[in-house]
Amino acid sequence: MKPRILVAREVFPEVLERLRRHFEVDDNQGDTVLGIEGLKARLADKAGALTAATDPLMAEVISAAPGLKALCNFAVGYNNIDLAACTRAGVMATNTPGVLDDTTADLAWALLMATARRLPAAERWLRNGEWKGWQFIQWLGSDIHHATLGILGMGRIGQTVARRALGFDMKVIYHNRTPLAAEQEAAIRATWVDKESLLRESDFLVLLLPYSPATHHTIGAAELALMKPTAHLINVARGGIVDDEALISALRQRRLSGAGIDVFEGEPKFNPGFLELDNVALSPHIGSSSRATRMAMAMTAADNLIAALSGQRPPNLLNPEVWK
Ligand code: GLV
Repeated sequence: MKPRILVAREVFPEVLERLRRHFEVDDNQGDTVLGIEGLKARLADKAGALTAATDPLMAEVISAAPGLKALCNFAVGYNNIDLAACTRAGVMATNTPGVLDDTTADLAWALLMATARRLPAAERWLRNGEWKGWQFIQWLGSDIHHATLGILGMGRIGQTVARRALGFDMKVIYHNRTPLAAEQEAAIRATWVDKESLLRESDFLVLLLPYSPATHHTIGAAELALMKPTAHLINVARGGIVDDEALISALRQRRLSGAGIDVFEGEPKFNPGFLELDNVALSPHIGSSSRATRMAMAMTAADNLIAALSGQRPPNLLNPEVWK
């Protein structure tokens, strides 16, 4: 008999077709958000699951699934999974690194450019019929070329964002616990600086940290106060890394010029203060959302699940202790 698995959110039919060759699949093509109780009920008789960043895979969910062997997230972030609880229960957990770097870096740039040139507010103004004539001094934005791009969290996506800055003749600085190797830095012309210098010197600061209790409110009132009033903040990482209330207050008082935000504290709900600001570009957590990339993410998660349930080490295993 084929192992039973859950696919916790809607995926492309091609993904289900592939999984059905290996497993008995309980899908969720209606895309109901299952939540803790829903996940407990649907995972109780399963050996594995494909899950999303919206699925709270905490200890109580994992312990309600005695036959569970693998949880394969179709996301690079995995702050929705209690990794320690997985390890205790002998459940392999995996993510999808690599396949979404370019698409997510592209969105970081889309938001950076949108906030720099004030596109959302200018478009709203145009749509509202407020454009009465061209003026020399109208909708003045911030220059991107030759500005300083700062990156906080210089993993694969951070390096991909930095590489794009070469075309804009930008100065690139970054902060990471571990600096890149000299040849990696040289390839993208990026310089390591301490966190305070990064905050003080960046014209555009892009956040690309993973979320964990340790990175909660990495950017709060104190950090925002160090930034230039002409600077822009871009968050395509996770809600909670930024203190949204403090950000809204800085943007409202023009202590910060603008922000491009794809992820929010408590999303899909978010602080309504964002909607009152004309100096933000907002998007609904779509960093990796191109058809090709979402397909690659789902297929990578499927690769991991197929390997895990056929006795092979999954390529993107997050808790190798379980494998040993
Ligand atoms: C999306 O947010 C991801 O972590 O892949």
